Amino acid sequence: MFGGKGGLGKTTFSAAAGYYLAQQGYKVLVFSVDPQASLSDIFQRHIFGQGPVKIMDNLWAQEIDADQRIKAYQDEIRQKIRDMYGFTDLPEEIESYIRAASAEPAMEESAIFDAVVDIVVAGDYDYYIYDLVPLGHALYYLSMATVYDAWIGKITALREQMREYDQVAAHLRRDEGLDEDAILGELLYIKDRIQTSSRILTDRQKTAFFFVLTPEEMIIQDTLKAAELFSRFQVPLSGYLVNRVLPEELKTQEIPEFLKHRLEMQEQYLAKIQQTFGDQIITRVPELERDVTGLTMISRVADYLCK
Ligand SMILES: Nc1ncnc2c1ncn2[C@@H]1O[C@H](COP(=O)(O)OP(=O)(O)OP(=O)(O)O)[C@@H](O)[C@H]1O
Ligand SMILES: [Mg+2]
Repeated sequence: MFGGKGGLGKTTFSAAAGYYLAQQGYKVLVFSVDPQASLSDIFQRHIFGQGPVKIMDNLWAQEIDADQRIKAYQDEIRQKIRDMYGFTDLPEEIESYIRAASAEPAMEESAIFDAVVDIVVAGDYDYYIYDLVPLGHALYYLSMATVYDAWIGKITALREQMREYDQVAAHLRRDEGLDEDAILGELLYIKDRIQTSSRILTDRQKTAFFFVLTPEEMIIQDTLKAAELFSRFQVPLSGYLVNRVLPEELKTQEIPEFLKHRLEMQEQYLAKIQQTFGDQIITRVPELERDVTGLTMISRVADYLCK
């Protein structure tokens, strides 16, 4: 997972790491839930809402379209209610409840969360690269696993208790026993998916979380704060990647005052980054002469990132 404040290079590094691993012969999926479709921009392909799109040998990219997911999610809920209660048509109260619930932001979050769980749990690839949305939002997603898990745990326990009473009642009535409890089955299925995915996301053997930062005062401060928050969610922090470092060799050339000043400031901030994050800094990637789009530029970043 690549995280960090907005616009520092998460998508760029996700694409570059994916490119590198694919070249090493691993089957890789780079994916994102970002409605801005940045993977489509960087790979210069139409990826948004298309499912996994093949970029080159061993490399696929996928962008989840939340709206599309919500519609699919609503249909799934309708179908489940029909199946569980044997309705042919949904009663109007239930239909209007589903419509109202879909307008809630939580519905979007949960549809996205569900899509991410689908991707990770399926296990179709050797490597999954999760290009995260900017920090605050990413934290929200990560915290959802914990919140959902607690919530589902409570409801499942209640349902299990009810089931015991039902069994006693059935026994007293000398019934043959109960039909399988479809709702309990569904709850246990959701619980298992959440636990499997959060186990993967917090497993140090399987998951690495990288913070992307740049040599600037505010960014250093914010990264530090965010790192503390992330550690509370047991996200396995694997290191810091410093992006957009102005090349040192500029100093030996004839350069304008403006650029000299920038280089001096950068030197201070790089020293501060060194002091703050020390041996957790994995690499520094230079500022390139143009923005990073297309495989040729991506491969250049990969050379710096994964050398
Ligand atoms: N080392 C670099 N040299 C030159 N341009 C870069 C470099 N790294 C990133 N960029 C450019 O900076 C811009 C932002 O990068 P990117 O989209 O990867 O950031 P992000 O963290 O994913 O942003 P967001 O928070 O919006 O998702 C892009 O135009 C990208 O091409
Ligand atoms: Mg991005």
